Amino acid sequence: MTLKIISVVGARPNFIKIAPFIKAINEYNKTNPKQQIENLLIHTGQHYDIRMSEAFFKELNIPAPDINLEVGSGSHAEQVGQTMIAFEKVLIEHKPDWVVVVGDVNATLACSVTAKKMNIKVCHIEAGLRSGDMKMPEEINRLVTDRLSDLLLTPDRLSSENLRKEGVAEDKIVFVGNIMIDTLEQNLKKALGLNIDELIKNNLIPDSNILYKINENAFAVMTLHRPSNVDSREVFVPLIEFIIDEVTKDFTMLWPIHPRAKNSLKKFNLWERVKCNKNIVLMEPIGYHEMLRLNYSAKIMLTDSGGLQEECCVLGTPCLTLRWNTERPITLKEHGGVSVLVGNNIERIRKEYNNTLASKRIPSRPELWDGKTAERCLHAIINVT
Ligand code: UD1
Repeated sequence: MTLKIISVVGARPNFIKIAPFIKAINEYNKTNPKQQIENLLIHTGQHYDIRMSEAFFKELNIPAPDINLEVGSGSHAEQVGQTMIAFEKVLIEHKPDWVVVVGDVNATLACSVTAKKMNIKVCHIEAGLRSGDMKMPEEINRLVTDRLSDLLLTPDRLSSENLRKEGVAEDKIVFVGNIMIDTLEQNLKKALGLNIDELIKNNLIPDSNILYKINENAFAVMTLHRPSNVDSREVFVPLIEFIIDEVTKDFTMLWPIHPRAKNSLKKFNLWERVKCNKNIVLMEPIGYHEMLRLNYSAKIMLTDSGGLQEECCVLGTPCLTLRWNTERPITLKEHGGVSVLVGNNIERIRKEYNNTLASKRIPSRPELWDGKTAERCLHAIINVT
């Protein structure tokens, strides 16, 4: 008997989540000759730059996508609409038993809606996360996907509880742990072999002409990509000025820059100031191993990324989360994690930044963040098939 799965990826964080799932399928097939799983990998093409997409496939050993829908950039309606139109054709041709979606990007929403309208079962890996913030496009994606999914695989018990509160039937919810941590476990050793000076040299923005000297024990890392942080001048400019005027007095700031943030630096006339600052190392988007290497040694992380919040938690890196809310409360200090929500108010960021300067690395492992989540995801699917 063959079970046919279509798994979907679209944007950078999806690649990190799908890698261990595909590995688990391959291992299952080796040991279960009587029941094979056929997996077709579909890339919607939302992220398309080599550094935002192909590089992750290579370094995480993800097979090349069987089909790339090539939707590219655009408004949310454009991305979701074009993905649905193209994905429907894939489903008509391949008729899978399951569509597996991960995370909360536009691909997750578009493909779960398309599959469900064709009566194809949907499994959502990383179900039940809720920020409560309906201004976040990802929250809308999460709510719709979870409402439609037949199998909801949650990363922590808080997420399972969120689903119960929304009335999801108990037999659809399976607490499997965090699949991102499978990838972290499988790649940490390799990441730690990277040399930080080399890493920086290989990733500097092309027109950088500063010779950086990094003290391996005294650098900070920042990533920013949420529209709520980078799109508005009122929020973005004071934040960058805080980094320039205050944080760089304590640390060299390593900043692998997302295309959205890069556009904003240029739009708000900050590009030259940041580029010429010898205490800010502006890099192109970096690879998975590279980010893990930096995170492992950083004194502090400033980020608005959910995935980094989780990785900081396991590595113990003190993390200032530049958001007012989080769908990942398990990573917060009050739940035993390392992250503090600081929003985008400079007073608050400064206060928590100063508190954090004195704090040490305290790694923490929420339940089932044990590197074996992908296996549990696959078994959950097989069990209901
Ligand atoms: C998307 C996800 C977000 C995720 C993030 C990770 C949604 C709604 N958002 O946001 O949840 O945390 O990915 O990065 O799905 N661009 C490039 N090259 C690329 C891709 C994008 O230059 O390969 C530029 C384009 O100008 C594009 C902009 O980045 O308009 C934003 O990209 P988009 O895919 O719309 O959203 P992200 O901000 O990356």
